[in-house]
Amino acid sequence: MITTLKLNDVTKNFGGTDVLSGITLDLSPGETAAIMGPSGSGKSTLLHCMSGVLLPSTGRVHFGTTDLTELNDGDRSHLRLSSFGFVFQDGQLLPELTAAENIALPATLTGTSRRKARRRAVHLLDQLSLGEFADRRPGQLSGGQAQRVAIARALATEPAVIFADEPTGALDQATGHDVMQMLTTLVRQQGSTLVLVTHDAQVADWLDRRIELRDGIIHDDRQLGIAR
Ligand SMILES: Nc1ncnc2c1ncn2[C@@H]1O[C@H](COP(=O)(O)OP(=O)(O)OP(=O)(O)O)[C@@H](O)[C@H]1O
Ligand SMILES: [Mg+2]
Repeated sequence: MITTLKLNDVTKNFGGTDVLSGITLDLSPGETAAIMGPSGSGKSTLLHCMSGVLLPSTGRVHFGTTDLTELNDGDRSHLRLSSFGFVFQDGQLLPELTAAENIALPATLTGTSRRKARRRAVHLLDQLSLGEFADRRPGQLSGGQAQRVAIARALATEPAVIFADEPTGALDQATGHDVMQMLTTLVRQQGSTLVLVTHDAQVADWLDRRIELRDGIIHDDRQLGIAR
């Protein structure tokens, strides 16, 4: 799916304070971007506004020709489920499901048959060198393994855009490196767009673009242009 994500003059106000102001940006299909900036600068809020988790106070968010700010809650949830994937700091896997079941869940919610979803889940686990863990529950996995399962879950529906908030924040440096390598490899294979919040410049180095927030405003936005 080829769709651009566009924010036009987005603000977000919490309790009388503008946490984001005048955010205008475009993300092209297949682009990988880091959102950086100090704690409290609005990174997570921006990610939530881009992904339809939060509605901006003013401004527009377009995914292709669809204006997310004009959809009702049900249609916005449906769009999120069918077109977006999410990874958080601590994977947020469902503890009572196995790794394969966790990965298959979003696809079955969008109408894929259980068998087909399971097959895709096992394939993704193999690609992430986790084939032997398919039937383990999250409590039986290390933090890095669980995070790779969370990445597989986010990718399972082949979403147009993956949103990740500090996906390596709870991991040691070497494990974080492995997770970023796998995430960026799979994202590029699928041609998905990736928007990833991080404090860590080494994590951002895996991505094409760096968007720096300060006090809710885009302070800097640059293409890193690293040949890969
Ligand atoms: N639901 C909310 N209600 C009120 N204020 C909020 C809410 N969510 C975020 N904020 C405030 O908005 C500002 C930006 O928060 P945000 O979580 O976007 O920052 P961040 O850049 O992701 O920080 P961190 O690096 O610590 O995760 C902060 O001052 C925060 O307290
Ligand atoms: Mg945050």
